[in-house]
Amino acid sequence: MDRAEAYRLMCEHTPSESLRRHMLNVETAMRWYARHWGEDEELYAVTGLLHDFDYEQHPEEHPVWGVRYLREHTDTPEVVLEAILGHVASAPRPTRLAKTLFAVDELTGLVQAAALIRPDKDLRKLEFSSLKKRFKSRAFAAGVNRDEVEQGARELGVDLEEHLANVLRAMQEVAEPQAAS
Ligand SMILES: [Fe+2]
Ligand SMILES: [Fe+2]
Repeated sequence: MDRAEAYRLMCEHTPSESLRRHMLNVETAMRWYARHWGEDEELYAVTGLLHDFDYEQHPEEHPVWGVRYLREHTDTPEVVLEAILGHVASAPRPTRLAKTLFAVDELTGLVQAAALIRPDKDLRKLEFSSLKKRFKSRAFAAGVNRDEVEQGARELGVDLEEHLANVLRAMQEVAEPQAAS
């Protein structure tokens, strides 16, 4: 299982453009943390790319269906499978890989939403102070579970504000410039 195979599998099982975007965003945040810690970037990328690949077609059994599929049909490393199972709040997260996935999963959605309500929709211009405000106002992008982001940062051992800044920076580094509308 490498990045190309993970991407292919994810697209094959996920017709939804927005869910694909979500997994690509999580991949981006995972890569940033892997580089930050000097961990295996490809492993982190693959974990982010695959973590919701079964969600669209098997929401009831997610992520168990996906992990079973990966175990039976691919050579995905056990540590990746364990991390995917661990992105549910109550599940165990024995590795830093698993903790990172849980910590960035919901937060990437908030960063994306905060960029999209800007008139220019330009993620590169989203200020950290604005992201912090959006985080605190729970009515905004209410589907983003703030408690899980806080729990995730705590488990990861990264200060919450630092974690917000890290994920914002990660996503800004790869963000495409927006065409003026
Ligand atoms: Fe999920
Ligand atoms: Fe997710």
